[in-house]
Amino acid sequence: MALDNIPTLNMTARVIFKNQAKMQTRILKINPKNPQISKIRQAAKIIKSGNLVAFPTETVYGLGANALDSKSVKKIFIAKGRPSDNPLIIHISDIADLKMLVDYIPNTAHELINKFWPGPLTLVLKKSKRVPKITTGGINTVAVRMPKNKIAQALIRETGVPIAAPSANVSGRPSPTTSEHVSNDLDGRISMIIDGGKTKIGIESTVIDLSRKTPMLLRPGGVTLEQLQRIIGKIAIHPTIQERKTKSVHRSPGMKYRHYSPNAKIILIEGTEDKVKNKILHLLSQFKKQGKKVGIMTAVNTRYKSNMTVFLGNNLDVIAADLFKTFREFDTKKIDIVLVQGISRKGLGLGIMNRLGKAAYKKIKI
Ligand code: TXA
Ligand code: MG
Repeated sequence: MALDNIPTLNMTARVIFKNQAKMQTRILKINPKNPQISKIRQAAKIIKSGNLVAFPTETVYGLGANALDSKSVKKIFIAKGRPSDNPLIIHISDIADLKMLVDYIPNTAHELINKFWPGPLTLVLKKSKRVPKITTGGINTVAVRMPKNKIAQALIRETGVPIAAPSANVSGRPSPTTSEHVSNDLDGRISMIIDGGKTKIGIESTVIDLSRKTPMLLRPGGVTLEQLQRIIGKIAIHPTIQERKTKSVHRSPGMKYRHYSPNAKIILIEGTEDKVKNKILHLLSQFKKQGKKVGIMTAVNTRYKSNMTVFLGNNLDVIAADLFKTFREFDTKKIDIVLVQGISRKGLGLGIMNRLGKAAYKKIKI
């Protein structure tokens, strides 16, 4: 991973990232349907001793450390090259752990937990004193989720502590949905990668802030906004998700960074089908004249003369599941520019469009 390709690193972080001592990263294959307990124990031992293990969740792979130990958590920030003000999600396997991590559990939280845990939903609540500041990037709220993946659950249980885990990619890169993706980014920087196959959902968990009067959606993800609204009613939506231009403060520190980016430059195009198609044809010929390798992601089965065309189809579950993998494939094929046709923001579409928007270097609305 070339440092130049990591957009979010400041100078200090670059120096730390570059000078990190290389270590041997062990890859341990575990059966996702029936995790072998002896193997889970080996991974748990590493986390208990203060080191890092990447593991599958139902959304994306996470990079886990003991959430209550500052020294362990610091290693996550260094391994990923993550800015220190971007807080981590804490993963638990038991509701009792939530009580230890937060100050107060509002009714809305109980309602959402009953419906969506274990699953791809992260709740932001006022943090308790037990949670070290480094884990929450210095703020007084904490993000918590209970993953559904069996390996993740077994690992948390066996470790016996809540596990802080951001996505197991180098900061700024697409989240990993296979152990190979993790290995490509973090080999030599962490102690172990659990290979538990491809993750099911493919985009990260939904993040909702319940620490204020009106709940606010901070990141759309595996649980849809419509599903949440059906349970708790009114939900404010963070302005960056609505894509209106605003100077409001960043409620989720991760929001201010460009994210999920492959090295290829993504151009996201939204509009009526005909107009988008014409725009893609126009840009394709323009970039080809400049000698660029052009990739296309489109929901319409049109034959474009590009270097790599990916048909999205109209099944949102499949689009989400393959999105980050596709980003990484564009890099493998050394594509320079990717022209992407926007999709509807309904259901899982909101999360997919959010990731495309954040990865995009340019957005065109026609
Ligand atoms: O699906 C997922 O959530 C994956 C898997 C591994 O669980 N994890 C993940 O973590 O996506 P990460 O660190 O890549 O993204 C966490 C997001 C960031 O945007 C961060 O800023 C936000 O959650 N976040 C964490 N704690 C927060 C807090 N206290 N207040 C507001 N936003 C918070
Ligand atoms: Mg991430």
